[in-house]
Amino acid sequence: MIQVVHTIKEVREQVKAWRAQGLTVGFVPTMGYLHEGHQSLIARSVAENDRTVVSVFVNPMQFAPTEDLESYPRDLEADTSLCDATGADLIFNPEPEEMYTEGFCSFVDMNGPTAELCGKSRPIHFRGVCTVVSKLFHIVTPDKAYFGQKDAQQLAVIRRMVTDLNIPVEIVGCPIIREKDGLAKSSRNTYLNEEERKAALILSKTIYMGQELVKGGMTDAKELIRAMKENIGTEPLARIDYVEAVNFDDISVTDTITDNTLVAMAVYIGKTRLIDNFIVQGKRDAKGVSSC
Ligand code: PAF
Repeated sequence: MIQVVHTIKEVREQVKAWRAQGLTVGFVPTMGYLHEGHQSLIARSVAENDRTVVSVFVNPMQFAPTEDLESYPRDLEADTSLCDATGADLIFNPEPEEMYTEGFCSFVDMNGPTAELCGKSRPIHFRGVCTVVSKLFHIVTPDKAYFGQKDAQQLAVIRRMVTDLNIPVEIVGCPIIREKDGLAKSSRNTYLNEEERKAALILSKTIYMGQELVKGGMTDAKELIRAMKENIGTEPLARIDYVEAVNFDDISVTDTITDNTLVAMAVYIGKTRLIDNFIVQGKRDAKGVSSC
C-alpha cells in the first residue's frame, strides 16, 4: 500500500531506511492531477528502481500572479490511486509552508536555456521550477528522476541545472503521451470546453505536419516555422504564443534543422495555453531524410 506523507522529515526518514537496505530510489516530480503522461514516468521509474517517490506539489513559485495557480486542478485521492496502481511507494504532498518556510529567500536561477520559448512569455517560471526541483532533489536524493518530453525546455533546463550544480541524479527524459486523436496529455486539457478541445487538435496536427516537412528534407527553420504558423492560423480559436526551432541541448535558436533540433510551440486555445513539440532525431540518410 502506498504511503502519503506531507513533511520533509518523513520523506528523509523513509529514503534513509531504503538506503540502509541498499535499495535504489527513482523520483517523479509532479504538480498532481495525474494522467497517463505522468503514469508513464512512474511506470518507468518503478521498472528501473527498487523504490519510487512521486511528489505532488502545485509550486506557487513557478506561477506569475496572472496565471492559473488558484484554478490549477487538484485531486490527491485520484493521484494516490494512480500512483498505487502503477507501483509507486511514496507520495510526498507538502503544503507550500513546508517547502517555503518563513523568511525563504534563496533561489536557483538560470540564464541561457531559460531565455527562449516559455522563458520569454513566462519570465519567472523557470526560476520557480529550478528552485523547487533542486529542493526536491535535496529532500528525496534520488538515483534517477523522470521528466516528460512534453515540457522539453524544462527537461533541458533541469539537465543543465544538475550538471552545473553537481547534483548527483540521473535525469531520464520520457516520450510525450498523446490522446488517441493526437492531443498531448496535459492536466490543463481539463480547462478546455468541447469546442476548444476540438480546436486544440491544431497543435498535434501542426506537429505532425512539421515532422513530415522535416522528413521530406526541409532544413530551413524559418520556412518550417512559417508553414507551421500558417497551419495554426487556420484555426480561429488558436492564438500563437510562439513556434520556434532551437537546439535541444542549450535551447539556442537555430536557422537550420538538424539532428537534435527541438521544434516547439505554445498556443492559446481560448484562455488555455497549451504546448507541444517534436525533436528531430536519427541520422539523416543519403536522401537527407531524417526521422522525428
Ligand atoms: O512539470 C511539472 O509538473 C513541474 O514543473 C515540476 C517539475 C513538478 C516542478 O514543479
